[in-house]
Amino acid sequence: MFSRLGNRQTDSLRDERIGTKLEELNMQNRVFPEHSSVWKVLEEQLRELRSQDLSHRMGQFFFFWRKPGDAIQLAAKEAASMFFNQLFIGELKQPSGAKLADDIEQMTLEILSAPANAKCTLTSGGTESNFWAVKIARDRAREKQPQISVPEIIVPMSAHPSFEKAGHFLGVKTVRTPLGEDKRADVKAMAETINENTILVAGSSPCYPYGLCDPVVEIAKLAQTNALWCHVDACVGGFIIPFLKKLGRDIPDFDFSVPGVNSIAADLHKYGYTPPGMSTFSLRDRADYCYQIFDWKSSQWNGAGDYQTETLAGSRATDVLASAWTTMMMLGEEGYLKAARGLLETMERLKAGIAAIDGLEVAFEPEVALFLFTSRQYDIIAVAEEMTNRGYPTAWYELDHPVMHLLLDPLEDERHLEDYLEMLAAVAQDVADGKVKRSGEGAVYA
Ligand SMILES: Cc1ncc(COP(=O)(O)O)c(C=O)c1O
Repeated sequence: MFSRLGNRQTDSLRDERIGTKLEELNMQNRVFPEHSSVWKVLEEQLRELRSQDLSHRMGQFFFFWRKPGDAIQLAAKEAASMFFNQLFIGELKQPSGAKLADDIEQMTLEILSAPANAKCTLTSGGTESNFWAVKIARDRAREKQPQISVPEIIVPMSAHPSFEKAGHFLGVKTVRTPLGEDKRADVKAMAETINENTILVAGSSPCYPYGLCDPVVEIAKLAQTNALWCHVDACVGGFIIPFLKKLGRDIPDFDFSVPGVNSIAADLHKYGYTPPGMSTFSLRDRADYCYQIFDWKSSQWNGAGDYQTETLAGSRATDVLASAWTTMMMLGEEGYLKAARGLLETMERLKAGIAAIDGLEVAFEPEVALFLFTSRQYDIIAVAEEMTNRGYPTAWYELDHPVMHLLLDPLEDERHLEDYLEMLAAVAQDVADGKVKRSGEGAVYA
């Protein structure tokens, strides 16, 4: 969990307004301006708002910032502005958008070792990508196993909540199974949970809480034996594990090279380093795409045109495609390998830095890009809270025991890591000396 950050004026304004009559509201400080505004004034307001946010530097190891380097950032921004205010509503009307999407999809399939008949869809984020796996498994089961009235999916305890979210929308029950001692999916427990209503099993590469990869090879075998859909949530690892493996790192296989894997969610806006709003959902066999597509014929709404979509959105923005395409093309395999190498360096230097601070220790041997550390001597949550107070926001979670939780970046500037470690040592000392205590304020995913 991490503390709610940033200014929430709009929340409190809204809270104050609940119960206020519309006429009164119009008299009060209304938000929707009666008269037009000039950009100069608004620009100033936006700058002021923006100045309250965390900078990339301070938030380097926190949740949100994966950046590929200044030059690529700048190019991605320029690419986005070239396609600013362009709707992507289909191939015929906008061949440029279709070409960008095709290229990103094809690059993704190549990175994920997909066979020739595979199909990739670009989605808004990891939550949506996982949604499509559940939807396809449900609709496929509806066709092939119509006797199932409430379908069930099985995911390890550490799986992302987007599985429940998908199940909630789709009328599918999500069952979570315990983890093994090693904090990875316990495939035996998953096998014992399968029943006549089960339609899907899934694993994560890696899971968010521990940063560890589930044994996808065994999960896929289990799926094959029981004729179930096998989905891999590689939202975090999909665009970095293939390159870490090329550098010789020993990480469990997770992609389409594993027999039995039917679909993979992999986020470009995490370790694909593209700007937000871009994830991928890939199918091993495009024959299953029929369970994904929504097809409403023109004749079904008074001849107003066919509506055929493969994502939750209808019309979409082209600028995110342009910036994602630019980022991937600029990085290329060489750039992703360099990023992977940089991540490993960050990991090693952080490990050494943590080992040098009295009372701190690595909680789990880091595998991909998540780094968890803890203390058996003092309150690590107090350390995390104080790091946030001093401008180095760091997530913390109460897993089996409390941990601080980092998402690593290859460092552009080594000073960032040194600064972080220096501050960490100072804060840890203050907590150990009893000078700083946890605030006890509830942490919120906001
Ligand atoms: C393993 C995993 N899957 C899925 C998601 C959801 O991704 P998004 O926030 O892009 O919807 C996350 C987000 O952190 C994640 O860590």
